[in-house]
Amino acid sequence: MSKRIVFTGGSGKAGRHVVPYLLDKGHEVFNLDLVPLNHPGVNTLITDLTDSGQTFNALSMHFDFKGLETGKGPAPVDAVVHFAAVPRILIRPDNTTFQANVASTYNVIEAAVKLGIRKVIIASSETTYGVCFAEGDKDFHTFPLEEDYDVDPMDSYGLSKVVNEKTARAFAMRTGADIYALRIGNVIEPHEYDRFPAFVADPPSRKRNAWSYIDARDLGQIVHLCVEKDGLGYQVFNAVNDTITANEPTRDFLKRWAPNTPVHRELGEYEAPIANKKIREVLGFKEEHNWRNYVPKT
Ligand SMILES: NC(=O)c1ccc[n+]([C@@H]2O[C@H](COP(=O)([O-])OP(=O)(O)OC[C@H]3O[C@@H](n4cnc5c(N)ncnc54)[C@H](O)[C@@H]3O)[C@@H](O)[C@H]2O)c1
Repeated sequence: MSKRIVFTGGSGKAGRHVVPYLLDKGHEVFNLDLVPLNHPGVNTLITDLTDSGQTFNALSMHFDFKGLETGKGPAPVDAVVHFAAVPRILIRPDNTTFQANVASTYNVIEAAVKLGIRKVIIASSETTYGVCFAEGDKDFHTFPLEEDYDVDPMDSYGLSKVVNEKTARAFAMRTGADIYALRIGNVIEPHEYDRFPAFVADPPSRKRNAWSYIDARDLGQIVHLCVEKDGLGYQVFNAVNDTITANEPTRDFLKRWAPNTPVHRELGEYEAPIANKKIREVLGFKEEHNWRNYVPKT
């Protein structure tokens, strides 16, 4: 069924693939961002989500001029997808990154649930697993990385995402709304598969991403499945593709390149070290864009 979705950060790297995926599934999308998304059928409202007043307003407005036709005011919103953020360290000062991400996520979730919107999906991150932006060579605690991991980032960006998961959990508990946090892996756009031969040739270079990734279009599928799946309350989902970014089977690869990290369960032959078992089993995710389809075999 077609849903009315407010999408934040739709003009960014991930959003510009996820928004078209949602439109293709028949949903209506309204983009809140600091810069426009040039995509037919999607209006961008220039909104600074670190400002609560702007956020409440934006979530209670018409999506576009067509909204005026009914004469009944803005129609209800079915879901909010919150992707807007400072997306890593070293773009803004650390304190600004932390404050912007924590404040905008608080504002979006609070406004959504107080306006009666019952589904919120937020972008969390692989960085919560603590290695991506760590000082020095830090080891993961255990493989595969699953949603019950004791997340422990030391950087301001990863920390902001851990706080955002707690904010999501608090508002889900307070209101009974469904709030799903996606621990998104390294986002790969269609034109970026030419980077994979270098990934495969230099395994240490991908340790910080746990040798995992998410195709931007498959991320669209995950968001769509989250929009469709009701009644789960607060959830964390890893949002990654199925397989490791290496040619060697995962168990042997990890023994060689992550020898200090124990493996706590059986692994699929090429299973990604960030496990996507939960989205496959709970949401019915089926990846469409395995990197091997786009990279000539060496
Ligand atoms: N790119 C990745 O590999 C990756 C990995 C894990 C998680 N994530 C998360 O996924 C989400 C999307 O990432 P991306 O790579 O598309 O980032 P991006 O920077 O390309 O896009 C983010 C968008 O948010 C907007 N934005 C920033 N601050 C805003 C504010 N205060 N108000 C309104 N809009 C604001 C920006 O203008 C931009 O268009 C982010 O939450 C990011 O932290 C990204």
